[in-house]
Amino acid sequence: MNLLYGWLWVLASVIGNAEFWVILVNRSHALAVHHRRLKLMRRMHDLAVPGWPLLLLWLTGTGPDSLLRGGGLWEQSLWTRRLVLFTSLWCSTLIMQTVVWQRRQKKQARFGSPGQQFDVFAATGDVSVRGTPGLLARVWPGNEYCRLECNIKRATVTPHRQRPQKPAAVLRILHLSDLHFIGTPGTAYYEFVVRTAMQQQADLILFSGDLIDRPELLDAAVRTLQPLTSLAPCCFVLGNHDWRYDFEEVRRRLQASGWRSVAGSVEIFLLKGRHIAIGGSERPWMGAEPVLVANSLCDLTILLSHSPDQLPAAQRLGYDLMLAGHTHGGQVVLPVVGPVFSPSRYGVALASGLFQGAPTTVHVSRGIGAKDPIRWNCTPELTVLEVQF
Ligand SMILES: [Fe+2]
Repeated sequence: MNLLYGWLWVLASVIGNAEFWVILVNRSHALAVHHRRLKLMRRMHDLAVPGWPLLLLWLTGTGPDSLLRGGGLWEQSLWTRRLVLFTSLWCSTLIMQTVVWQRRQKKQARFGSPGQQFDVFAATGDVSVRGTPGLLARVWPGNEYCRLECNIKRATVTPHRQRPQKPAAVLRILHLSDLHFIGTPGTAYYEFVVRTAMQQQADLILFSGDLIDRPELLDAAVRTLQPLTSLAPCCFVLGNHDWRYDFEEVRRRLQASGWRSVAGSVEIFLLKGRHIAIGGSERPWMGAEPVLVANSLCDLTILLSHSPDQLPAAQRLGYDLMLAGHTHGGQVVLPVVGPVFSPSRYGVALASGLFQGAPTTVHVSRGIGAKDPIRWNCTPELTVLEVQF
């Protein structure tokens, strides 16, 4: 029995330590922190997660008092006890997160079924993924980095404020997020995404930020997205990866191609006989706080935000719907446990999906691209939101 307890302490400590570092990475990436500091945080995570089991082995030893040989926790040194207890404590956070995630996942089925899946490389014959990203994209078992899911999700929104009495309407919103033009995959991948998007008969197209990871690809990115502007009104906000470069140039170039920036402002469109207001937020990285929609004639108000952490602002200002990205769906989604890396002050709670609520319903996209070429159990997604209001 002592042997079992010892192994359980070690297991809890190793899992809890990993959870602690993942929480630090997630919370720090939700803030407007310079990317060099964030990189340092990630390096510390990369070192601490595999390093702690080895350190624990060294601290507890391999003698008869070792935890792994049936020694009790109270037979270990004071510092070993403290460290094992501290790290094990974080298992409780992991358990709570898992329960919340499982509950929310069960509800996702209400809003739509899994969409059409594409192996984009097979479809385009694109062989432009090279180097380490290419190796990871092709060799890592189950890596979905170069796939695409095109799905339809249905939400019913009941605006809480006074508005003109009209019969219910359905708006098809195409939600694109986190394109991350980085060169691998190449433009063939993104052209496939845009071709697929153009077949969706959208009334409105919204992009929630992170366009580029290499400024020299801005031309290609703008050229790739430009055809969408001929189909429907296209609005965007920028994300934290755009913030690393000359983001006002990124904004100017996208605007010149027909896309409308809604960062810190509101645009009102007449679509299907309804007034649709779209506000935007690039907080905490850029620009002003989201703006209140004062026009009482609006039938539907939408906040486009890169980060899902703007949800309290959307609720405070009474937006009916909020569309966000940034979290990449957790990028790695473990069986049972759920998403791992979700840069948000809410951790993995808003990693991806549709969350119907009052006054604000939220859709968080898993996004299309990623700077790190790993997506496990977390397919890039292009979503058509059918919003009834
Ligand atoms: Fe992103």
